[in-house]
Amino acid sequence: MKLTQSLSRMQQTALKWRSEGIKIALVPTMGFLHEGHLSLMRHARRSVGRKGKVITSIYVNPTQFGPGEDYGRYPRDIRADKTRCREMGVDMLFLPDNASMYPSSSSGLPYSCFVKEKRLTSGMEGASRPTHFEGVTTVVAKLFLITQPHYSVFGAKDFQQARVIEKMTSDLNFPIQIIIAPTLREADGLAMSSRNKYLSKPERLQAPALWNAIQSARDSVKNANNGFIPVNQLRKKLIKQITQSADMEVDYIEFFDSETLVPVKKVSTTARMAVAARLGAVRLIDNASLDPASPY
Ligand code: PAF
Repeated sequence: MKLTQSLSRMQQTALKWRSEGIKIALVPTMGFLHEGHLSLMRHARRSVGRKGKVITSIYVNPTQFGPGEDYGRYPRDIRADKTRCREMGVDMLFLPDNASMYPSSSSGLPYSCFVKEKRLTSGMEGASRPTHFEGVTTVVAKLFLITQPHYSVFGAKDFQQARVIEKMTSDLNFPIQIIIAPTLREADGLAMSSRNKYLSKPERLQAPALWNAIQSARDSVKNANNGFIPVNQLRKKLIKQITQSADMEVDYIEFFDSETLVPVKKVSTTARMAVAARLGAVRLIDNASLDPASPY
Protein backbone atom coordinates (compact mmCIF):
# COMPACT_ATOMS: atom_id res chain seq x y z
CA MET A 1 0.00 0.00 0.00
CA LYS A 2 1.31 3.45 -0.93
CA LEU A 3 0.74 6.29 1.49
CA THR A 4 0.99 10.03 1.01
CA GLN A 5 0.11 13.28 2.74
CA SER A 6 1.01 15.33 -0.32
CA LEU A 7 -1.84 16.67 -2.48
CA SER A 8 0.38 17.06 -5.53
CA ARG A 9 1.89 13.56 -5.21
CA MET A 10 -1.61 12.10 -4.81
CA GLN A 11 -2.89 13.98 -7.86
CA GLN A 12 0.13 13.10 -10.03
CA THR A 13 -0.19 9.42 -9.12
CA ALA A 14 -3.91 9.43 -9.94
CA LEU A 15 -3.37 11.24 -13.28
CA LYS A 16 -0.65 8.72 -14.20
CA TRP A 17 -2.99 5.82 -13.40
CA ARG A 18 -5.72 7.40 -15.53
CA SER A 19 -3.29 7.92 -18.44
CA GLU A 20 -2.52 4.19 -18.27
CA GLY A 21 -6.25 3.37 -18.50
CA ILE A 22 -6.43 2.22 -14.87
CA LYS A 23 -9.80 2.65 -13.11
CA ILE A 24 -9.79 4.42 -9.75
CA ALA A 25 -12.28 4.24 -6.87
CA LEU A 26 -12.18 6.63 -3.91
CA VAL A 27 -13.51 5.93 -0.41
CA PRO A 28 -13.44 9.25 1.47
CA THR A 29 -13.44 8.80 5.26
CA MET A 30 -12.68 10.65 8.46
CA GLY A 31 -10.86 7.57 9.81
CA PHE A 32 -11.42 5.54 12.99
CA LEU A 33 -12.37 2.85 10.51
CA HIS A 34 -14.97 0.23 11.38
CA GLU A 35 -16.71 -2.60 9.48
CA GLY A 36 -18.98 -0.07 7.75
CA HIS A 37 -15.95 1.63 6.16
CA LEU A 38 -14.46 -1.75 5.22
CA SER A 39 -17.66 -2.58 3.38
CA LEU A 40 -17.31 0.71 1.41
CA MET A 41 -13.79 -0.44 0.45
CA ARG A 42 -15.19 -3.78 -0.75
CA HIS A 43 -17.71 -1.91 -2.93
CA ALA A 44 -14.83 0.22 -4.26
CA ARG A 45 -12.76 -2.84 -5.14
CA ARG A 46 -15.75 -4.46 -6.86
CA SER A 47 -16.26 -1.32 -8.98
CA VAL A 48 -12.68 -1.21 -10.34
CA GLY A 49 -11.76 -4.90 -10.27
CA ARG A 50 -8.40 -6.44 -9.36
CA LYS A 51 -6.48 -4.33 -11.89
CA GLY A 52 -7.99 -1.05 -10.68
CA LYS A 53 -6.83 1.14 -7.81
CA VAL A 54 -8.67 1.80 -4.56
CA ILE A 55 -7.78 5.04 -2.77
CA THR A 56 -8.94 5.67 0.80
CA SER A 57 -8.64 9.17 2.20
CA ILE A 58 -8.56 9.81 5.92
CA TYR A 59 -9.14 13.42 6.85
CA VAL A 60 -11.14 14.88 9.74
CA ASN A 61 -12.41 17.88 7.81
CA PRO A 62 -12.74 20.93 10.11
CA THR A 63 -15.09 22.87 7.80
CA GLN A 64 -17.95 20.37 8.23
CA PHE A 65 -18.02 20.74 12.03
CA GLY A 66 -20.03 23.62 13.50
CA PRO A 67 -19.01 25.65 16.56
CA GLY A 68 -19.32 23.50 19.69
CA GLU A 69 -19.39 20.24 17.71
CA ASP A 70 -16.92 17.40 18.24
CA TYR A 71 -14.09 18.33 15.82
CA GLY A 72 -11.44 18.40 18.57
CA ARG A 73 -12.44 15.12 20.15
CA TYR A 74 -13.47 13.23 16.99
CA PRO A 75 -11.96 9.72 17.50
CA ARG A 76 -8.66 9.12 15.72
CA ASP A 77 -6.47 5.99 15.50
CA ILE A 78 -4.26 6.30 12.47
CA ARG A 79 -2.12 3.24 13.30
CA ALA A 80 -5.12 0.91 13.41
CA ASP A 81 -6.56 2.59 10.30
CA LYS A 82 -3.36 1.95 8.31
CA THR A 83 -3.42 -1.73 9.28
CA ARG A 84 -7.07 -2.06 8.26
CA CYS A 85 -6.48 -0.38 4.90
CA ARG A 86 -3.47 -2.62 4.23
CA GLU A 87 -5.51 -5.72 5.11
CA MET A 88 -8.32 -4.55 2.81
CA GLY A 89 -5.94 -4.29 -0.14
CA VAL A 90 -6.23 -0.49 -0.45
CA ASP A 91 -3.69 0.68 -3.05
CA MET A 92 -3.17 4.21 -1.77
CA LEU A 93 -3.92 5.84 1.56
CA PHE A 94 -4.24 9.61 1.28
CA LEU A 95 -3.73 11.53 4.52
CA PRO A 96 -3.89 15.27 3.84
CA ASP A 97 -3.61 17.87 6.60
CA ASN A 98 -5.38 21.18 7.25
CA ALA A 99 -2.47 23.35 6.12
CA SER A 100 -2.48 21.76 2.67
CA MET A 101 -6.27 21.38 2.28
CA TYR A 102 -7.13 24.93 3.39
CA PRO A 103 -3.95 26.94 2.80
CA SER A 104 -3.52 30.67 2.85
CA SER A 105 -2.24 32.08 -0.44
CA SER A 106 1.37 33.17 -0.82
CA SER A 107 0.21 36.76 -0.28
CA GLY A 108 -1.36 35.76 3.06
CA LEU A 109 -5.04 35.69 1.99
CA PRO A 110 -6.90 32.94 3.86
CA TYR A 111 -8.53 30.03 2.01
CA SER A 112 -11.88 31.29 0.62
CA CYS A 113 -13.47 28.91 -1.96
CA PHE A 114 -16.45 26.75 -0.97
CA VAL A 115 -19.01 24.57 -2.77
CA LYS A 116 -22.67 24.95 -1.75
CA GLU A 117 -25.63 22.75 -2.70
CA LYS A 118 -28.81 24.78 -2.21
CA ARG A 119 -31.75 22.39 -2.50
CA LEU A 120 -31.17 19.05 -0.79
CA THR A 121 -29.31 20.58 2.15
CA SER A 122 -32.16 22.66 3.57
CA GLY A 123 -33.81 20.05 5.82
CA MET A 124 -32.77 17.41 8.35
CA GLU A 125 -28.99 17.52 8.99
CA GLY A 126 -28.78 20.79 7.04
CA ALA A 127 -31.37 22.41 9.31
CA SER A 128 -29.77 21.10 12.50
CA ARG A 129 -26.17 21.76 11.39
CA PRO A 130 -26.36 24.86 9.13
CA THR A 131 -22.70 24.93 7.99
CA HIS A 132 -22.19 21.15 7.79
CA PHE A 133 -22.98 20.35 4.15
CA GLU A 134 -20.99 23.25 2.74
CA GLY A 135 -17.96 21.76 4.49
CA VAL A 136 -18.78 18.29 3.14
CA THR A 137 -19.33 19.34 -0.48
CA THR A 138 -16.22 21.52 -0.41
CA VAL A 139 -13.94 18.80 0.91
CA VAL A 140 -15.43 16.08 -1.30
CA ALA A 141 -15.07 18.27 -4.42
CA LYS A 142 -11.42 18.86 -3.48
CA LEU A 143 -10.86 15.14 -2.85
CA PHE A 144 -12.42 14.34 -6.24
CA LEU A 145 -10.07 16.78 -8.01
CA ILE A 146 -7.03 15.52 -6.12
CA THR A 147 -7.70 11.78 -6.48
CA GLN A 148 -9.37 11.80 -9.95
CA PRO A 149 -11.63 8.78 -9.31
CA HIS A 150 -14.00 7.07 -11.76
CA TYR A 151 -16.09 5.85 -8.77
CA SER A 152 -16.59 7.07 -5.23
CA VAL A 153 -18.39 5.18 -2.48
CA PHE A 154 -20.53 6.68 0.31
CA GLY A 155 -22.56 4.96 3.04
CA ALA A 156 -26.36 5.06 3.15
CA LYS A 157 -25.97 5.69 6.90
CA ASP A 158 -25.46 9.36 5.92
CA PHE A 159 -28.19 9.20 3.30
CA GLN A 160 -28.75 12.94 2.91
CA GLN A 161 -24.99 13.43 2.51
CA ALA A 162 -24.88 10.73 -0.20
CA ARG A 163 -27.73 12.39 -2.14
CA VAL A 164 -26.14 15.85 -1.77
CA ILE A 165 -22.87 14.50 -3.15
CA GLU A 166 -24.67 12.81 -6.05
CA LYS A 167 -26.34 16.14 -6.85
CA MET A 168 -23.07 18.06 -6.66
CA THR A 169 -21.38 15.46 -8.86
CA SER A 170 -24.09 15.77 -11.49
CA ASP A 171 -24.57 19.57 -11.29
CA LEU A 172 -20.82 20.27 -11.47
CA ASN A 173 -20.17 17.63 -14.17
CA PHE A 174 -17.66 15.54 -12.26
CA PRO A 175 -17.18 12.42 -14.45
CA ILE A 176 -17.59 10.18 -11.41
CA GLN A 177 -20.10 7.45 -10.59
CA ILE A 178 -21.33 7.70 -7.01
CA ILE A 179 -22.01 4.35 -5.33
CA ILE A 180 -24.25 4.31 -2.25
CA ALA A 181 -23.55 1.28 -0.04
CA PRO A 182 -26.02 -0.15 2.50
CA THR A 183 -25.69 0.71 6.20
CA LEU A 184 -23.92 -1.92 8.29
CA ARG A 185 -25.51 -2.58 11.66
CA GLU A 186 -24.47 -4.12 14.98
CA ALA A 187 -26.35 -7.28 16.04
CA ASP A 188 -28.95 -5.17 17.92
CA GLY A 189 -29.57 -2.92 14.90
CA LEU A 190 -27.45 0.11 15.87
CA ALA A 191 -26.01 1.63 12.68
CA MET A 192 -22.20 1.42 12.71
CA SER A 193 -20.55 4.80 13.22
CA SER A 194 -17.20 6.05 14.51
CA ARG A 195 -19.15 8.21 16.97
CA ASN A 196 -20.61 5.09 18.69
CA LYS A 197 -17.30 5.05 20.56
CA TYR A 198 -18.56 8.04 22.59
CA LEU A 199 -21.45 6.00 24.07
CA SER A 200 -21.20 4.90 27.71
CA LYS A 201 -22.27 1.31 28.50
CA PRO A 202 -25.82 2.29 29.59
CA GLU A 203 -26.15 4.60 26.56
CA ARG A 204 -24.96 1.85 24.21
CA LEU A 205 -27.82 -0.35 25.49
CA GLN A 206 -30.34 2.40 24.67
CA ALA A 207 -28.88 3.40 21.31
CA PRO A 208 -30.84 0.85 19.17
CA ALA A 209 -34.02 2.86 19.97
CA LEU A 210 -33.61 4.67 16.63
CA TRP A 211 -33.49 1.44 14.60
CA ASN A 212 -36.41 0.08 16.65
CA ALA A 213 -38.40 3.21 15.73
CA ILE A 214 -37.67 2.64 12.03
CA GLN A 215 -38.85 -0.97 12.40
CA SER A 216 -42.05 0.23 14.10
CA ALA A 217 -42.64 2.72 11.26
CA ARG A 218 -42.27 -0.13 8.77
CA ASP A 219 -44.80 -2.23 10.70
CA SER A 220 -47.20 0.72 10.99
CA VAL A 221 -47.25 1.48 7.26
CA LYS A 222 -47.50 -2.21 6.38
CA ASN A 223 -50.59 -2.57 8.57
CA ALA A 224 -52.16 0.85 7.83
CA ASN A 225 -55.64 1.20 6.29
CA ASN A 226 -55.14 2.04 2.57
CA GLY A 227 -51.35 1.73 3.19
CA PHE A 228 -50.99 5.36 4.37
CA ILE A 229 -50.50 7.07 7.75
CA PRO A 230 -50.58 10.85 8.35
CA VAL A 231 -47.05 12.13 9.07
CA ASN A 232 -47.88 13.82 12.38
CA GLN A 233 -49.67 10.77 13.76
CA LEU A 234 -46.70 8.47 13.01
CA ARG A 235 -44.10 11.01 14.16
CA LYS A 236 -45.89 11.48 17.49
CA LYS A 237 -46.10 7.73 18.05
CA LEU A 238 -42.40 7.20 17.28
CA ILE A 239 -41.19 10.09 19.45
CA LYS A 240 -43.18 8.57 22.33
CA GLN A 241 -41.67 5.15 21.66
CA ILE A 242 -38.10 6.51 21.52
CA THR A 243 -38.32 8.73 24.60
CA GLN A 244 -40.04 6.01 26.66
CA SER A 245 -37.43 3.36 25.81
CA ALA A 246 -34.30 5.57 25.90
CA ASP A 247 -33.07 8.72 27.60
CA MET A 248 -33.08 10.50 24.25
CA GLU A 249 -34.06 13.93 23.02
CA VAL A 250 -35.37 13.62 19.45
CA ASP A 251 -33.97 16.26 17.10
CA TYR A 252 -36.10 15.29 14.08
CA ILE A 253 -38.07 12.47 12.50
CA GLU A 254 -38.72 13.05 8.80
CA PHE A 255 -40.48 11.02 6.10
CA PHE A 256 -39.44 11.90 2.57
CA ASP A 257 -38.95 10.80 -1.01
CA SER A 258 -35.65 8.89 -1.36
CA GLU A 259 -34.70 10.61 -4.64
CA THR A 260 -35.69 14.24 -4.03
CA LEU A 261 -35.61 14.31 -0.20
CA VAL A 262 -38.93 16.22 -0.40
CA PRO A 263 -41.07 15.48 2.70
CA VAL A 264 -44.16 13.29 2.04
CA LYS A 265 -47.62 14.28 3.30
CA LYS A 266 -48.77 10.73 4.05
CA VAL A 267 -46.36 7.94 4.94
CA SER A 268 -46.36 4.69 2.95
CA THR A 269 -43.78 2.02 2.10
CA THR A 270 -42.47 4.22 -0.73
CA ALA A 271 -41.18 6.80 1.78
CA ARG A 272 -37.89 6.91 3.61
CA MET A 273 -37.54 7.76 7.29
CA ALA A 274 -34.64 9.63 8.90
CA VAL A 275 -34.22 10.23 12.60
CA ALA A 276 -31.72 12.16 14.71
CA ALA A 277 -31.60 12.19 18.49
CA ARG A 278 -29.29 13.19 21.30
CA LEU A 279 -28.33 10.55 23.86
CA GLY A 280 -26.28 12.27 26.58
CA ALA A 281 -23.48 14.07 24.75
CA VAL A 282 -23.81 11.93 21.61
CA ARG A 283 -25.89 12.82 18.56
CA LEU A 284 -27.08 9.69 16.74
CA ILE A 285 -28.65 9.53 13.28
CA ASP A 286 -30.24 6.70 11.34
CA ASN A 287 -32.44 6.24 8.26
CA ALA A 288 -33.94 3.56 6.07
CA SER A 289 -36.51 2.97 3.39
CA LEU A 290 -39.89 2.01 4.85
CA ASP A 291 -40.01 -0.74 2.25
CA PRO A 292 -38.19 -3.60 4.00
CA ALA A 293 -37.33 -5.09 0.58
CA SER A 294 -35.27 -2.00 -0.35
CA PRO A 295 -31.46 -2.61 -0.37
CA TYR A 296 -30.86 0.37 1.95
O1 PAF B 1 -18.95 10.75 5.80
C1 PAF B 1 -17.82 11.18 6.13
O2 PAF B 1 -17.03 10.49 6.78
C2 PAF B 1 -17.42 12.60 5.73
O3 PAF B 1 -18.51 13.45 5.74
C3 PAF B 1 -16.68 12.65 4.37
C4 PAF B 1 -17.59 12.21 3.25
C5 PAF B 1 -15.44 11.78 4.43
C6 PAF B 1 -16.26 14.10 4.09
O4 PAF B 1 -15.41 14.58 5.07
